[in-house]
Formats: sequence, C-alpha cells, structure tokens
Amino acid sequence: MKLSNQTAIVTGASRGIGKAIALALAREGCNIAAVARSDSSANSIAEEIKALGVKFAGYGVDISSSASVNECVDKVQKEFGNIDILINNAGITRDTLIMRMTDEDWDSVLQTNLKGAFNWTRAATKYMMKARKGKIINVGSVIGLHGNAGQANYAAAKAGLIGLTKSVAKELAGRNITCNVICPGFIQTDMTDVLSEELKQKLQEQIPLKRLGAAGDVAELALYLSCAGSNYMTGQVLTVDGGLFI
Ligand SMILES: NC(=O)c1ccc[n+]([C@@H]2O[C@H](COP(=O)([O-])OP(=O)(O)OC[C@H]3O[C@@H](n4cnc5c(N)ncnc54)[C@H](OP(=O)(O)O)[C@@H]3O)[C@@H](O)[C@H]2O)c1
Repeated sequence: MKLSNQTAIVTGASRGIGKAIALALAREGCNIAAVARSDSSANSIAEEIKALGVKFAGYGVDISSSASVNECVDKVQKEFGNIDILINNAGITRDTLIMRMTDEDWDSVLQTNLKGAFNWTRAATKYMMKARKGKIINVGSVIGLHGNAGQANYAAAKAGLIGLTKSVAKELAGRNITCNVICPGFIQTDMTDVLSEELKQKLQEQIPLKRLGAAGDVAELALYLSCAGSNYMTGQVLTVDGGLFI
C-alpha cells in the first residue's frame, strides 16, 4: 500500500469530495484525522474508514477559528504521532449577485474557504517542517480561475487559495514540503444539489465529457498528489472539470 503508516488531516471529510478523498487515502493504508463542523458529523465516516484497517479520529472544528485549528493539529500530532498529508477541502458557498451580497456572505466564505486553509497550513507545517516532509493539497475551484456571476465571494476565496498554494510551495520546498491545488469543475455533491435540474442539464451539454464529475474523480487526483509519484510536483494548479474550460 502506498500510504502505510502515514497520517492525513482531511477537512470537510464528512461528505462529498472530502469523504471520497478520505476513503481513497485510507484504501492505501493512510490513517485519517477527519474534520467537519461537529464531532458527530466528522465521526459519521468512522465505520467506513476503520473497516479499511486504518486508524481514525474525527474532530468537530470551525476551521475559520485559528485557535481551534491550532488545538486540533496539536491533538492529531499527539494521537497519531505524525502529520504527513494535509487536505484543505472544507468549503462553503453563499451565492448572490454582488449588489445583494452582504458583509456576512462575503466574510463567511472568505473565512472558511481561504482563512481556513491558511489556519491549517500554518498549524500543520509546524510539524511537517520538523519532520522535513509533507504534502499539502488544497481544493480550489475552476471558479477561482475563471470567475462566475453570482459567486464573487467564492471566486475571490478560491483565487486566493491559488496564491496561497504557490507561496507555500516556494516557501517550504526547501523543507521537502509540497503544496498543490486541485480545481474541480462541477462535481455531484450536496453543494451542487441545490442547482436546478435545468441548469445541471445545460452544464452537462457544455462539458466535453458530457457528465458532471463524481467526488471520486477528484479523490483520485488528491491520492496521486498525496503519494510519492508526485514528489517532484509543487505549486501546481490542476483542473478536474471534464474539459469544461479547455
Ligand atoms: N461540488 C462541486 O461542484 C465543487 C466544485 C469545485 C470545488 N469544490 C470545492 O470542493 C470542496 C468540497 O466541496 P463539496 O461539494 O464536497 O462540499 P459539501 O458536500 O458541501 O461538503 C462540505 C464539507 O465542508 C465542511 N465544512 C464546511 N464549513 C466548515 C467549517 N467552517 N468548519 C469545518 N468544516 C466545514 C462540511 O462539514 P459538515 O458536514 O459538518 O457541515 C462538509 O464536510 C469545497 O472546498 C468546494 O468549494 C466543489
């Protein structure tokens, strides 16, 4: 197995893309520290992960709070003994046109999607630097590359994540820590379930591969970026969108 005895922190692991990533890593022998908004939500995947024979712990953490994130990372290091992989996946949307966008809509999306990733990266790299190894995988979005009407807050946060990724890659390469960002297109999860059937149909027609993505499509790339095969890749922005933005 490719990730035996390694530990990954996966944020937003309770469902959707995060859950698929946690399962893909666990299938390769990786121990999983799963993060979601509440303990019960984070632990909802416990049985499925443990059935794969790896160690598991779930943590309810509001990722926008740096104090809570610092405390959780210290706990993971203590309980697992090592932090090899960090998957910054948790994210939210608060879509609306800019004229109607409230301060709360803006702040909550930036705090969760961008500051959240900063909080985990700062806290986890403290241990990765000591270990002189680490892999950080951020989950961005094609919207961060191309923008989208009604998603100014989300696009700004995801574009910011690309800058964060490239800076961390440059800053920590000397410590053998890599940092890459995956930009999914439209993936079937709770986040996109709110879109109307008509819009989903329209999108499907525009996607060269003629389907919305599955969480597993993103998880396979996250797995590759977590394994030794990608050791010479850092600071990269990788799109998984069925060809939508060719
Ligand atoms: N789905 C898509 O089409 C798509 C496309 C491009 C990019 N993405 C990105 O991919 C990532 C995952 O998306 P998804 O579709 O899988 O989302 P999802 O199904 O809505 O799941 C979101 C996850 O994030 C967690 N979360 C949200 N806010 C949090 C907070 N403040 N603290 C801790 N955990 C929090 C949720 O925990 P709870 O279960 O406890 O609420 C849940 O586990 C996001 O960053 C999203 O922007 C998704």
